[in-house]
Amino acid sequence: MQTKELTYQHHYTPLTRLELVEKLRSALTDERFQHVLRVEQTAVDLAERYGVDPERASVAGLVHDYAKQRSDKEFIETIHKYHLDPNLLNYGNAIWHGVVGWILVKNELGINDIEILKAVEYHTVGHETMTKLEQIVYMADYIEPHRNFPGVEQARKLTNEDLALAVAYQTKQTLVYLVDNNRPVFPQTVVTYNSWVPKSGLD
Ligand SMILES: [Fe+2]
Ligand SMILES: [Fe+2]
Repeated sequence: MQTKELTYQHHYTPLTRLELVEKLRSALTDERFQHVLRVEQTAVDLAERYGVDPERASVAGLVHDYAKQRSDKEFIETIHKYHLDPNLLNYGNAIWHGVVGWILVKNELGINDIEILKAVEYHTVGHETMTKLEQIVYMADYIEPHRNFPGVEQARKLTNEDLALAVAYQTKQTLVYLVDNNRPVFPQTVVTYNSWVPKSGLD
């Protein structure tokens, strides 16, 4: 994958791309930092393919996991402070880093673009009417080049051919995985499943 280092022009963030990259480098372990760089590049490629603003895809890809390494305590405090759905307290970091983490992205990185914030908020659970940008971040996170799990090649193929079908594929795989492992399912994930999978034409 050829690295694309965009020069930001739309002021989705007050920072330059390099300044934003440095914020991510300090917020994350090196392993996760490398992951967000790969998600960014994957998202930019998909944005070009699907007619979405690559700069939005770059910012959203970089910041999607910004909050991933915050403590449970900080997330719980944020849920209370912003009067978010108390049911969130029954879940953990896997849900919180997106569904709550977007607030930290907004407050700490000065990103106010609603499309980018929503792409962060829903990047693990999805929702009924995901925009192209949201679909791109959802898929880029799933298929970035270091991902290696049964089905990832199929996910990559679908993502390049039909974004909505790829969203359906990931949503179904995630639900199957959670159920197979007796893990709790965040209600929004079921909503996403009902909106994207039954009518998708997925095999
Ligand atoms: Fe994530
Ligand atoms: Fe991620």
